[in-house]
Amino acid sequence: MYTSNQLLEKVNQALDHLAYDRQPQGLYAPIKYELSLGGKRLRPVLMLLTYNMYKEDVENIMMQALGLEIYHNFTLLHDDVMDRADVRRGKPCVHKVWNDNTAILSGDTMIVDSFIRMQQCDPAHLPDVMDVFSRTALEISEGQQYDMEFESRNDVKEEEYLEMIRLKTSVLLACAVKIGALLGNATNEDAALLYDFGERIGLAFQLQDDYLDVYGDFAVFGKRIGGDILCNKKTYLLIKAFEHANEGQRKELESWVSRTEYAPQEKIDAVTRLYNEIGVRELCDQKINMFFQLAEQSLQKVSLPWEKKSQLWNYALQLMSRKS
Ligand code: IPE
Ligand code: IPE
Ligand code: MG
Ligand code: MG
Ligand code: MG
Repeated sequence: MYTSNQLLEKVNQALDHLAYDRQPQGLYAPIKYELSLGGKRLRPVLMLLTYNMYKEDVENIMMQALGLEIYHNFTLLHDDVMDRADVRRGKPCVHKVWNDNTAILSGDTMIVDSFIRMQQCDPAHLPDVMDVFSRTALEISEGQQYDMEFESRNDVKEEEYLEMIRLKTSVLLACAVKIGALLGNATNEDAALLYDFGERIGLAFQLQDDYLDVYGDFAVFGKRIGGDILCNKKTYLLIKAFEHANEGQRKELESWVSRTEYAPQEKIDAVTRLYNEIGVRELCDQKINMFFQLAEQSLQKVSLPWEKKSQLWNYALQLMSRKS
């Protein structure tokens, strides 16, 4: 069995070897740029770790692992346009280096590329793999749409938020794990349990992303700190802040959320101060821990000895303390 670091190295090597030598380069250069910026490569590593619990020949599914990473990177190209973000992985976003049209079309091209790679899998599993992959792709769009709609709503409930992040983020982690299981010939029961595991890790992962968007270190996180605050994103922090605020704090939060003219850093500082006063950090931490525990329960039920599952679990534990 491979360690997650060994698999990460394999993924990065395979990504380095992607040619993208078709024309026009105006379409493909932004794709190469995005993929060369690094990133955790979480989804392909999850897929390979899961497959490796069942089979040794991880190279056999590298094409599908890359397909998933390319799909993820497509979502980032479009997401940065939608979220008015300027920086990703510490570098200017594609729509900044080029323009919005480039981000749209190169992003669209990455979707097609990812499907081409995914469908080159073992024909015995093709229908199941394409079923979960295409359903996931639809769900991500649904989640992204909710995320945008929530920007202009102030009555978003915790349940709605959790469903939104399940769709926009966690189904892709679940999909990575499930495709690894399917291609590894896992039983349907194990594949379903592993999907649940991925989904729960994914919920914790997006909660952490929201947390790091406020409390992270730009040099490590690689994205603008406070970006979600500026967009009035309905994050767990903001929803909980509204829920637990006293009258004065609620009025202050409301006024920041509804203001159209403001100095960006002033708004970020004020909302962060309110988060600190209201104590939402702790609530967010608790929720993250809860989802990690639920994820562990799903993994426990997978019908393999724990030695086989420990690499995957150790990787999840590593994610739990991530800073980037
Ligand atoms: C960013 O994903 C988008 C979210 C779902 C939060 P990652 O945090 O996996 O981004 P990279 O690929 O490591 O840059
Ligand atoms: C992540 O949403 C979901 C997708 C990109 C599909 P975010 O908007 O929180 O992701 P970051 O923070 O920009 O990476
Ligand atoms: Mg977004
Ligand atoms: Mg974003
Ligand atoms: Mg984010």
